Amino acid sequence: MKVLMINGCIRGTKSRSWQLAQAFLSAMEAHKPESIRLNYTRLDLADMDFKPLKGSFFEERQRLLEEGSREHPRFFYARQFAQADRILLAAPFWDLSVPAIVKLYIENISLDGITFGCNDEGMYGMCRAKDFTFFTTRGGVYGNGPLEQGARYLEALCGMFGIPEFRCICAEGIDARPEETDRIMGKALAEAREAGEHYWEA
Ligand SMILES: Cc1cc2nc3c(=O)[nH]c(=O)nc-3n(C[C@H](O)[C@H](O)[C@H](O)COP(=O)(O)O)c2cc1C
Repeated sequence: MKVLMINGCIRGTKSRSWQLAQAFLSAMEAHKPESIRLNYTRLDLADMDFKPLKGSFFEERQRLLEEGSREHPRFFYARQFAQADRILLAAPFWDLSVPAIVKLYIENISLDGITFGCNDEGMYGMCRAKDFTFFTTRGGVYGNGPLEQGARYLEALCGMFGIPEFRCICAEGIDARPEETDRIMGKALAEAREAGEHYWEA
């Protein structure tokens, strides 16, 4: 069972989004049935160097795709994403969406012929993962309103990549109402732990 954890948090252990992911991971590991062999990979995006698609880096990508060179080393992370059985992502809510390091990662793994394909009817997903779980915290409160473009964007991408189930575990309003922060985080941490406990049942 290949579980891919993408850490898009910037503030290390101070990150509340990462704290949600940690609560989930501890519970997930503690409840893993012996029969499941876990192959866990964590990508710490803040320590990695995904480049934006521009100039010769973009041109090379287009040329490789035209040649059908999907095995090229630069597409390693796209293949890794496509082959994961289950995917986790932790990232804070920044500027109504996700931080640029997450966007750079997506730009580098979103590849025709690896993570999605195209035919006469449009796009179809090529990823193997059955689910994608997103951990995030937001300073303000957005609910399902139109200003929330983080979880909404990621859920749309899951559709494009063919990942059927998207789940978001989130704490909202943790900066807007400091007196409420502990209570809000406590509730989200409990939700994350519970999701970890039941992860293997899905
Ligand atoms: C660069 C930056 C941009 C942010 N943008 C928003 C925003 O658009 N809306 C909002 O409600 N909070 C925003 N925040 C607040 C964060 O969402 C909030 O502090 C969150 O809990 C940070 O997550 P972390 O503890 O995992 O780093 C922003 C914070 C930073 C540092």
